[in-house]
Amino acid sequence: FPVDSIRNFSIIAHVDHGKSTLADRILEFTGAIKKDADNKQVLDKLQVERERGITVKAQTASVTYEYKGQTYLLNLIDTPGHVDFSYEVSRSLAACDGVILLVDANEGVQAQTVANFYLAFTNELSILPVLNKIDLKNADPEAVKDQLLTLFEIDPDEVLMISAKKGIGIEKVITSVIERIPCPAEKCNPDAPLRALLFDSWFDKYKGAVCLILVVDGTLRKGDFVTSVHTGKSYEIRDLGILTPQERSIPQLFAGQVGYFTANIRSAKEAQVGDTFHQKGIPCEPLEGFREAKPMVFAGMYPMDQSEHPALRAAIDRLTLNDSSVSINIESSAALGQGWRLGFLGLLHMDVFNQRLEQEHGAQVVVTTPSVPYKVRIHGEKALREYGEEEPTITNPIQWPDPQIIVETSEPMVMGTIITPDSYLGAIISLCQDRRGIQHNLRNLDQNRIIVQYKLPLNEIVVDFYDHLKSVSSGYATFDYEDIGFEPSSLVKLDILLNGIMIEELSTIVHSSRARTVGKRICEKLSNTLPKHLFQIAVQAAVRGKVLARTNIKPVRKDVLAKCYGGDISRKMKLLKRQAEGKKRMKMYGNIEVPREAFINILKR
Ligand code: GTP
Repeated sequence: FPVDSIRNFSIIAHVDHGKSTLADRILEFTGAIKKDADNKQVLDKLQVERERGITVKAQTASVTYEYKGQTYLLNLIDTPGHVDFSYEVSRSLAACDGVILLVDANEGVQAQTVANFYLAFTNELSILPVLNKIDLKNADPEAVKDQLLTLFEIDPDEVLMISAKKGIGIEKVITSVIERIPCPAEKCNPDAPLRALLFDSWFDKYKGAVCLILVVDGTLRKGDFVTSVHTGKSYEIRDLGILTPQERSIPQLFAGQVGYFTANIRSAKEAQVGDTFHQKGIPCEPLEGFREAKPMVFAGMYPMDQSEHPALRAAIDRLTLNDSSVSINIESSAALGQGWRLGFLGLLHMDVFNQRLEQEHGAQVVVTTPSVPYKVRIHGEKALREYGEEEPTITNPIQWPDPQIIVETSEPMVMGTIITPDSYLGAIISLCQDRRGIQHNLRNLDQNRIIVQYKLPLNEIVVDFYDHLKSVSSGYATFDYEDIGFEPSSLVKLDILLNGIMIEELSTIVHSSRARTVGKRICEKLSNTLPKHLFQIAVQAAVRGKVLARTNIKPVRKDVLAKCYGGDISRKMKLLKRQAEGKKRMKMYGNIEVPREAFINILKR
């Protein structure tokens, strides 16, 4: 295939706007798959994806199409479609020259439409606007065209109208891709030494990492030795080919082509997205786009039952083999036993991981409340020696430095975009303010919908922001966010004490304005789940030793005299004394029994 007959493109859309359905139709129309009701969404491979209707791992398919006497090679790069995966979206976009911007003609532009549009726009990709679901009774294509014009300056005459479900307008989409999306000639050079961009990878038990690449310069052949710019390691290409969407071996891939290769790469960490490969011994400038996947949401994972520890470890190992963006650290907790602290790109990423653990491996897991990474600037030589740097990133409250050596603390921030019918605006503004949000932008999208942007601390949205947003807007508001880096913030470590003894695994990092409320909540939860003891238990929440909240658990008075049938006063005194000593001993040794369930109840999401 000459370069000018190649089109590399993606479909980007808000969740449920019909991306997978359109991808299926394109594959059917070009003959890559048979027309068959069971074919529904062949690109969504995983069970979780089907259940949740979201695409998690990008999948790609190459198809051919005859048009005006020429055969075109169309490489459709499927992108994941949810807030957490914008990193994966942007990396698949790096292999494209254009995108189909798909919008539901009934729902109109939504938060992810906006986020995805800007990703494509800043990558300088051609944008082919397409309205889907025009078969729906309530579809209002003209109003949606107006939104596209207002927000993105898209000419209404350039907008295609289709029904992916009914198969209406599909041919026009394909011919428009050929006519309106440029071929990769501009960024590719067939005569230069090999440069290939890795834009997706997954792990196969037998073949090792399967790498999806765009050959930017030169040619890649079976048997070539290639080197990764990122790791410096070299491999022999065992197999290469295109996805149709099944793997089909071919002897070589030329500049501009998208395909896969396997090279006996034994770990997912050696096949990181955004990496550049070149011929061994012929180094090149790395292609733009490499960015180490940065986990932003952390949570502890523990087996429900410690005897399940080895099985859970095997399950986690298998899953992370396929997903190099998950970070793992071993963690042990006196309360929950041996487990792990895992880092994810976002909350949905964590949910999907969890669900896959349970579904694919039958593992029962205790997951602790998610937290975000913090940066803490410290001073003092001893401190620097201990932490190894001036501004360590803290992902676990146990590592929080002594307040004496802290100079400044920062937390990760995001820019959130919300699109909502105007009647819910008031409730949404109070929700965002309540979450320490700062309004950045507010404008009308059309007569009754508003687009509003808030700068928010990531910490305030990781737990239940999305659920609250949905509930205050009767499900109508949509939300997306992008990371905008760390900002200084007044953070403190909130400790929980039982009769003055700190329970380390219950410590959390909170904004100072939140310490009292959060502390109160934990104290109340603890008093409701801790069994009564023979003595009173003071449950306290404190910051730097200052108590901010307190509840008491009343003692049960075991009536030690019940068995003494009156009479002998000295025997009575002896028993009372022993009971008092017992109380003292228990307090002294911190002998408060905290059942595992109480920890799980507090730590669990
Ligand atoms: P994600 O993978 O989660 O991003 O969703 P998606 O954008 O791939 O959406 P999907 O293709 O799964 O479609 C979502 C729903 O819309 C499904 O129930 C489809 O059957 C339906 N749908 C897709 N296209 C059309 C259409 O043209 N008309 C109608 N009426 N429904 C459609």
